Amino acid sequence: MKRTMIKEARNWQGAFGSDIIINGWIRTKRDSKGGFSFLEINDGSCFGNIQVVADNKLENYETEILKLFPGASVRVEGKIVESQGKGQKAEILAQKIKVFGTCDVNTYPIQKQKISFETLREIAHLRPRTNTFGAMARVRNELIRATHEFFQTRGFLNVHTPIITGSDCEGAGQMFQVTTLDPLKIAKHLKPNEVPDYKEDFFGKKTHLTVSGQLEGETYACALGNIYTFGPTFRAENSNTTRHLAEFWMIEPEMAFADILDDMELAESYLKHLCSSVIKNCSEDMAFFQERIDKDILVTLQNIIENDFVRITYTEAVEILQKSDKKFDFTPQWGSDLQTEHERYLTEEKFKKPVIIYNYPKAIKSFYMKQNDDGKTVAAMDVLVPKIGEIIGGSQREDDLEKISQRITELGMDIKDYWWYLDLRKYGTVPHAGFGLGFERAVLLCTGMTNIRDVIPFPRTPRNAEF
Ligand code: 4AD
Ligand code: MG
Repeated sequence: MKRTMIKEARNWQGAFGSDIIINGWIRTKRDSKGGFSFLEINDGSCFGNIQVVADNKLENYETEILKLFPGASVRVEGKIVESQGKGQKAEILAQKIKVFGTCDVNTYPIQKQKISFETLREIAHLRPRTNTFGAMARVRNELIRATHEFFQTRGFLNVHTPIITGSDCEGAGQMFQVTTLDPLKIAKHLKPNEVPDYKEDFFGKKTHLTVSGQLEGETYACALGNIYTFGPTFRAENSNTTRHLAEFWMIEPEMAFADILDDMELAESYLKHLCSSVIKNCSEDMAFFQERIDKDILVTLQNIIENDFVRITYTEAVEILQKSDKKFDFTPQWGSDLQTEHERYLTEEKFKKPVIIYNYPKAIKSFYMKQNDDGKTVAAMDVLVPKIGEIIGGSQREDDLEKISQRITELGMDIKDYWWYLDLRKYGTVPHAGFGLGFERAVLLCTGMTNIRDVIPFPRTPRNAEF
């Protein structure tokens, strides 16, 4: 007989009294004096457990079952019956229990009493066995599914862009180098200020892990129309914040024949789709996040779904910040990047909903952004959401060959490196636009979790890559 997933067993649609087999790990166990034990079993298919009633008629009751502790893995064969208890529809009367693996109560780190998220990060290989990380993994999965659903139903093609690349998209010098050259040998042979000969390196040039798939994504958008990437991105910035990872996942749609307004519209509907998908498809996990992590989480998500996002220019944003009574650590000033405190003030206190800020000063944004006619700003847009700040960054791209070439030179970048990117402007150039959504920031938004290290299975942060 085939094993039934606990999700299906909990929501049993068949006849009571049927035979059933489930597999899973014991979450709790209670032995009663009359020769009974109650086991709560979880197999990860859903948040809830199923209760198994084991009694001393089982041949291994005394020898094995009585000695089991939470964490042990079992197969239960028995009959599924209507539950007498509250909060669950069905339970299982065990006829046979096979123990796959016992679990030593004295050394197993996942104990019933609350363990801090900090401690759990040190046992990242076992933390998926807790309620919080099980729920996080299922919501994360739903956000992946909903992302593909959103773009695929709109006719966007999923494109795999390279992870190792020779181009620098964001130009901020925060990349991990990829090389097969031996650092020790290089150090021995080089004189001070001499650079290694990258012709000797694996790719014959200097390469690194990508900070964004955008530039390569644009090449496919400028041939196929609408595309999106969903891949890992790497940034060697030494920022130990609750919103930065050195390795994170990014979704980057790119649309041909589109401008900054189309870009904002896509970003807004995508975020709304993510929020409504988790509410619709992860109700049990979301009820947990609401009860234990953030009591306002469902209201926050509903608010995002139901309201139009605010749209203001960067110039308007700076004016609002300057006029506010709020004391900021950094005085808001036209021409400087908005600080997280500014972004959070706008989205959390001033508007209390997502805010799209667009038309940023050219000097603080990337080379590829479309230059506006005012000569000072570019058609960039950031989406800010409560509790997180920036979740999406995007722009219309500069499609004028002359303007983009001039900008690359102005910024002291080597124009030769961008020959293929410039070809898109040389041959059949089109207005196009796109954005990047930081996937882990979306998981933070949808769960109410507050540290980005707790919404990715194995976080990569400075001095932390144990697993
Ligand atoms: O704003 P960013 O740097 O934009 C780009 O990379 C563009 N090339 C995207 C595009 O237009 N196709 O990054 C996009 C998003 C940010 O808004 C943020 O949500 C997330 O990526 N992000 C990070 N998430 C976690 N850890 C980090 N270190 C992040 N850096 C950016
Ligand atoms: Mg950004």
